[in-house]
Amino acid sequence: MTAIAELRGLGMRFGPMAQGVHALQDIDLTVRPGEILGLVGESGSGKSTLGRCLLRLLAPTAGTVRFEGDDITAWPERRLRRLRSAMSMVFQDPWSALNPRMRIRALIEEPLLLHCALSAAERRARGEALATAVRISPDQLDRMPGELSGGQLQRVCIARAIATNPRLIVLDEPTSSLDLSVRAGILDLLAELRASTGSAMVFITHDLATLRLIADRVAVLYLGRIIEEGPAGRVLADPLHPYTQALLSAHLSADPAERSRRIRLQGEIPSPINRPPGCSFATRCPLAEPRCNAVQPPLLEQEPGHIAACLRVPEGSNRLVPPP
Ligand SMILES: Nc1ncnc2c1ncn2[C@@H]1O[C@H](COP(=O)(O)OP(=O)(O)OP(=O)(O)O)[C@@H](O)[C@H]1O
Ligand code: SF4
Ligand SMILES: [Mg+2]
Repeated sequence: MTAIAELRGLGMRFGPMAQGVHALQDIDLTVRPGEILGLVGESGSGKSTLGRCLLRLLAPTAGTVRFEGDDITAWPERRLRRLRSAMSMVFQDPWSALNPRMRIRALIEEPLLLHCALSAAERRARGEALATAVRISPDQLDRMPGELSGGQLQRVCIARAIATNPRLIVLDEPTSSLDLSVRAGILDLLAELRASTGSAMVFITHDLATLRLIADRVAVLYLGRIIEEGPAGRVLADPLHPYTQALLSAHLSADPAERSRRIRLQGEIPSPINRPPGCSFATRCPLAEPRCNAVQPPLLEQEPGHIAACLRVPEGSNRLVPPP
């Protein structure tokens, strides 16, 4: 099966060679047809940069980006234009993603106008079908963005993102700016749309617990590198990398027995301008040893499809807290 998108040896540096920010390094990642791949990491770990490189909204400074087998790393914008209807992006903040002076109907129809040769009547009918798919009611179509709630506006953004039947949608923290009460509805909608459209989705979040509800696979980023990746069920049930274990432990319930298993990380995150030579997590890792500062841990497969970059994983001494 041809991958939808593939990154190989991807690197992204912003700014001058010597002092630039190394936002991404040595990223190998495959997005498979129709899957939901969760991309998780703290602020500044490179999630948005990775999402933008996948869609070639950014040109990486190293490595390759493939879309459905084509190496699009160096394609000029003119050539990328014909791929634009096959990929789309949903951003965190629906208020700034939508033109406040356009009616909802026009906003939903806009991608059809740009990318599809449809008559006005066909466009209107398709726009209404899209609105129904994301549960925007007919009477809301003639309203202005200012008259809708954040959750409803994010549904409009999702309708725009699926309008041209893209094969790949990158969603960059699509629920982070929304009230908790509407988040679950958006996640349900995305799962439903994945099933009905077959689009592959890359779901970016800093919240591992969200991925439990939606992702098939999970990749964990730390300081611009993937440090763990695998089936969501495995990564979320039995995280191998100490960083993933710490991230996940933040979601343990308030139950005192569970709370005592919570891992609080101390220490500084190294600067992305001046990275240490060994494991990037060594400054905060409770299991760090001298060798961790010398050797960059390779990403090794520990079980089928489940890889992790920690020197202790192959030895089985990687548990921050023993299993209950
Ligand atoms: N245009 C830019 N110019 C310079 N540095 C940038 C630029 N975009 C991102 N960076 C830097 O690259 C690194 C990764 O940024 P990125 O926005 O991809 O992280 P993120 O994981 O999406 O963070 P957040 O969770 O806050 O959205 C950060 O150190 C950031 O400061
Ligand atoms: S390689 Fe060392 S510092 Fe890095 S995660 Fe593993 S134990 Fe921690
Ligand atoms: Mg981001």
